[in-house]
Formats: sequence, structure tokens, C-alpha cells
Amino acid sequence: ESTLGAAAKQSGRYFGVAIASGRLGDSTYTSIANREFNSVTAENEMKIDATEPQRGQFNFTSADRVYNWAVQNGKEVRGHTLAWHSQQPSWMQSLSGSALRQAMIDHINGVMAHYKGKIAQWDVVNEAFADGSSGARRDSNLQRTGNDWIEVAFRTARAADPSAKLCYNDYNVENWTWAKTQAMYNMVKDFKQRGVPIDCVGFQAHFNSGSPYNSNFRTTLQNFAALGVDVAVTELDIQGASPTTYAAVVNDCLAVPRCLGITVWGVRDSDSWRSGDTPLLFNNDGSKKPAYTAVLNALNGG
Ligand code: G3I
Repeated sequence: ESTLGAAAKQSGRYFGVAIASGRLGDSTYTSIANREFNSVTAENEMKIDATEPQRGQFNFTSADRVYNWAVQNGKEVRGHTLAWHSQQPSWMQSLSGSALRQAMIDHINGVMAHYKGKIAQWDVVNEAFADGSSGARRDSNLQRTGNDWIEVAFRTARAADPSAKLCYNDYNVENWTWAKTQAMYNMVKDFKQRGVPIDCVGFQAHFNSGSPYNSNFRTTLQNFAALGVDVAVTELDIQGASPTTYAAVVNDCLAVPRCLGITVWGVRDSDSWRSGDTPLLFNNDGSKKPAYTAVLNALNGG
């Protein structure tokens, strides 16, 4: 196959991309995105600040722009993200305790109702663990509402849209030996044992010199899958875009039957949140980088 999406589809997987609504008027951008990818994540538009700027007043203008572009072009959509310490609107940042807990529940219900039956996977909770060696939860206003906030989010999400796969999503959890990975593993194991509804784990895979790719990523994916959840690579970008590393990540996903697919976090380097790292598959002029060819070849089995 000659595109990333079609090549991934050979094994029943998708190859997706983060789309920014503000770039949908750029025809170089949209023609690459439409040609190469068959799954879409809104880079910012489905986040809390964008969808509920005032408490109880939902706004899906930008989110629907991305959603409609994706669906009109035959792509599935990953929802990102419902409960997160970052990109909270100021009204939410100022809440705590039971009021914040209720606001989180209301937010999940409001956004999931709008997209009910239309989203393949939702990142229900994003980035709840601390970096470093503690293996602890990240301190945040949501965490301070009680350690059960994550399972409450998942139970709320399941009731709101039973058709969506519900994912927990995080970064620096690709290396099996890291404390953060182990902490996330123990949470998922506990959720499965207690029947908390979780279907998938998203590995963001933002690789750089401080958090480099390690070949034990495959072990990580396998171990999570063995708990009875699907896994996905949700925000892939690699500082310097080494073709070898990109191919290794693809081969890790392909080696794990429960790996649903891969999403890269932007189209061209100039579209990246860290464009100085030139981490993506396309140059600023829209031409394909060596990493693109490596990924395509890997998806094609070579
Ligand atoms: O919308 C405003 C715009 O009105 C203003 O003019 C402009 C000025 O800087 O800022 C715009 O907002 C920015 C937004 O991206 C849209 O471009 C924010 O400042 C900026 O902070 C925001 O960054 C996003 C970041 O998440 C915020 O946490 C990145 O685009 C986005 O790629 C990044 O994505 C995250 C994932 O959601 C979770 N995992 C990590 C990943 C990378 O940080």
C-alpha cells in the first residue's frame, strides 16, 4: 500500500494524526492529512477549556470543525480528553472538593452526550501520574478531590456512551522499567480486577533525549494487553525523527495483537507543538521525510 492509513489497515489497524482546526484552511495540510491518515484526534479542540468555556455552557464549534472534517473524509475519531489537570477553563481551576468532582462528572456527561455513538476511543483521563521515581499520582485539583476520581470518571463515561472505548492516556509510560509505567500498570490491573470500566491504554510516545525510545516498549504494550485492555500509540513524535526509531515503534505495535493503531501528533514539522525538534513525518513544504518511508515500509511488513 502507498499511504500510511491503507498500509495500517492491512492488519486491521489505523494510522492517525492530530488535527488542528486552525489549519483546516491550509490545502497542503489537508491534502496530506486526508491522503495519509484514517484516524483523527483533535489536537486541542475537544479539551475542557475549548468545550466548556463557562460552567454548563458547552461550545463545540471548533471540536465539530475537526470532527466533521474527519467524518466527511471517512476517518474515525479519537476523543481527547475529558478529565485532565491541564487546559482547564479558569472556572474549573478555581473549584475544589465536591464542587470540582461534580463539575468533572457534568463535563464528561456534556461532551460525551454531544458525540454519543460517534467516537471510537475517548481519552477519559489524561496524565494523572507524576513523573520521576515516586510512582505517585500527580498532584492536581482533580487528585485532591480524592484518589477515586479516575474511576469515577470512567464509570461516568461508560454510562454516558457505552459504544466508545474508554482509554487512560499518559506520557513517559513507554519504558517498562520506569516507576510511572509500573504505577499505571497497577492502576489498570486494579481496575480490571474490580470491574472499573476501562478498555484501552494510550501511550503518548513523545520521545526525546530525556525520555528516549527503549526497545522494552514492546514488553510494556504486551504486559498491558495481557491485563485485558487494548493499547494504542496516541501522540507519537520523535525528536529528530530517526527513521529507525519510527520503524521500531511501528513494529512494536504490529507485534501486539491488541495494539489498535498509531497516531502521530501533527502533520508537518511546522505543525508540531515542538517544531524545533523536527519530530514528525513531513517537512514544512509537505514533502515526505525518511521517517515517513520507514514507517510506510514497516506497516507494509518490510
Ligand atoms: O488558542 C490560543 C490562541 O487564542 C492564542 O492566540 C495562542 C497564543 O499562544 O495560544 C492558543 O492556545 C494554545 C493552543 O495550544 C492552541 O494553539 C496554547 O497557548 C498552547 O498551550 C496549546 O498547546 C497545546 C498543549 O497540548 C497544551 O497543553 C498543544 O497545541 C498540543 O499539541 C498539546 O498536546 C498535548 C496533549 O493534549 C496531551 N499530551 C501532551 C501533548 C503535548 O504537550
